[in-house]
Amino acid sequence: TVLILDFGSQYSHLITRRVREAGVYCELLPCTQKIADLKFKPKGIILSGSPFSITDEGAPHVDPAVFDLGVPILGICYGLQEIARNLGGETSLAVKREYGHAELHLHPQEGHHSAAFLKDLPSPTNVWMSHGDHLESPPQDFVVIGSTATSEYAAVAHKDRPIYGIQFHPEVTHSVDGTILLRNFVIGICKCDASWTMSSFIDKELERIRTLVGPTGSVIGAVSGGVDSTVAAVLMKRAIGDRFHAVLVDNGVMRLNECAQVKKTLADNLGINLTVADAADLFLGRLKGVTDPERKRKIIGNTFIEVFEAESHKIDAMTRERGEGAIEWLLQGTLYPDVIESISFKGPSATIKSHHNVGGLLEDMRLKLIEPLRELFKDEVRALGTLLDIPDDLVWRHPFPGPGIAIRVLGEVTPSQVEIARLADNIYIEEIKKAGLYRQISQAYAALLPVRSVGVMGDQRTYEQVIALRAVESQDFMTADWFQMPYDVLKRISNRIINEVKGVNRVLYDVSSKPPSTIEFE
Ligand code: XMP
Repeated sequence: TVLILDFGSQYSHLITRRVREAGVYCELLPCTQKIADLKFKPKGIILSGSPFSITDEGAPHVDPAVFDLGVPILGICYGLQEIARNLGGETSLAVKREYGHAELHLHPQEGHHSAAFLKDLPSPTNVWMSHGDHLESPPQDFVVIGSTATSEYAAVAHKDRPIYGIQFHPEVTHSVDGTILLRNFVIGICKCDASWTMSSFIDKELERIRTLVGPTGSVIGAVSGGVDSTVAAVLMKRAIGDRFHAVLVDNGVMRLNECAQVKKTLADNLGINLTVADAADLFLGRLKGVTDPERKRKIIGNTFIEVFEAESHKIDAMTRERGEGAIEWLLQGTLYPDVIESISFKGPSATIKSHHNVGGLLEDMRLKLIEPLRELFKDEVRALGTLLDIPDDLVWRHPFPGPGIAIRVLGEVTPSQVEIARLADNIYIEEIKKAGLYRQISQAYAALLPVRSVGVMGDQRTYEQVIALRAVESQDFMTADWFQMPYDVLKRISNRIINEVKGVNRVLYDVSSKPPSTIEFE
C-alpha cells in the first residue's frame, strides 16, 4: 500500500486514481494522520498539494514521523514545500502564482537513485503548474533533477535518501507524462507490485465479507437497478448466498418497465434473494399537488426510508421465524469518492459527512454498515461488474437520480404525466443506443415541461405538452457539457416522440452546460 497524505488539494483524489491505474493499491488519509496510529505499513508516501501557503498561520503539517519511517517519499507542490520545511534546513520560499503549462527540462544525475524516478520520461515534457509558493533555493542535501523556465527547482531529489519533490502536478492529465512519473515512484522506487486488479479484489473482498458477517449473520440492502447497488448485491450474493436480502422499492417514478426488468435481471438471472416492495401508489399519493422540487425530493426520500424500514422489519421477523437469525448488517454501495469527500483534509475545521440515508435502521435495528465498494472508483466498479458477469447494459447504465422521473416531470407529478415522460424517455434512450452513442454520453433523459404549445396534426390544431431532451458528457457529474447530438439522430427522436407519445406536440434539445445549469431540471 502507498499512503497518500491529503493537504486538501482539489487534485488529491486524482493522485489516488493514477496510482491505482498503475496497479498499485493506495489509500488517501488526511495530512493530520498520526503515523503511530496507521493500521498498515506503507511502502511509500505521497504528500499532496494544498490550497494553503506553507507560510500561512494554521497551515497544515504532517506528523514529522513520516520522515523517520524510512520509506520513499514524494512531495507534490505543497508536499515539496513540506519536505523542504522538515528536511531542508534554511529554505527560503517565494510567493509567485503560477498556473498553466510549463516545459520541464530534466537534469539527470549520474549514478543517482533519481534515475529510476525519471526513467522513460522525455525531456522536455509538458507539465501542469498550479501553485503559489515556490522554492528560492533547493533544500539542503537535495539535488536538482528538473527545472522549468520559471521554477529553477521544479524537481528535486535527496542526495542519498529516496525522497523526491516536484513543483508540478503529475496527477492531472495536462501533465502528459505524469503517469510515468507516478508509476516510476510507486513501482520503481517504492517497489510495490502492480497487483491491484479487480480479480484480486473480488477474492479478498469475498473473504472479508464472510469473516465480517460470520457463518450465520444476515445482511439487508436496497437495490435500484443502478450499477453500484447491483455490483454490491452480486458480491454479497457470492459471499453469503441467500443470507443477503435485497429490497427493491417501486416508488412509481422509475423508468418504463424498469421494476420488472430489474427484478428479472437481479432475481432471475443473477439469483439474488430479492423482495420487491410495491409502493407506487403510496409515493404518487403523497406527491399529489406538490410542485416544489425540494418538497418532491423530501417526500420521496422520506417515503423511501419508511418503506425500506418496514420491509426490513418484515424480513427480519421472517428470518427469525425460520430460525435463521436476525438481520445484523445493512449494505450500502458507497464508493471511494464519497469516502474521500468525507475524510479529505478541509482545513482547520474538517467536516465529516455521513453517507447513510437509511440512518434510522442503523439505530432501531442496531444494524452495522457493510460497504464492499468503499475502496473503489466508479470505473473500477464497472470493471468489477463485468468480472461478476453482470450484463453490459447494466454495467454501463447512465446514473438515475433517487427521486427518479418525479424531478423530470416539472410541475405536478401525476400518473399520466409520469407515463408521458416515461414513454418519451424510452424512445430517446432506444434511439441513442441504436445510433451507438449511449456510451459516449454520460447521462441522457427526457423531461416533461409544464407548458403547452400550439401545433397542427392533420387538419387539427393541437394544444399539447413539450418534451425537453437532455444529454451531457461529464467526468464526475460536478461539471458537464451538453452533448453535440447529431441532427439526424435528433430528427428521428423528435419524429418518434411526437408520433408515438400522446399528449406531446413539440420536442426541444437542451444546450446548457453545468454550471450554471444542473444536469437535472429540478
Ligand atoms: P445535478 O442535477 O445536481 O445532478 O447536476 C448531478 C448528478 O446527480 C444526480 N442526482 C441525484 N442522484 N439523488 C440521486 O441519487 C438525487 O436526489 C439526485 N439529484 C441529482 C443526477 O442525475 C446527476 O447524475
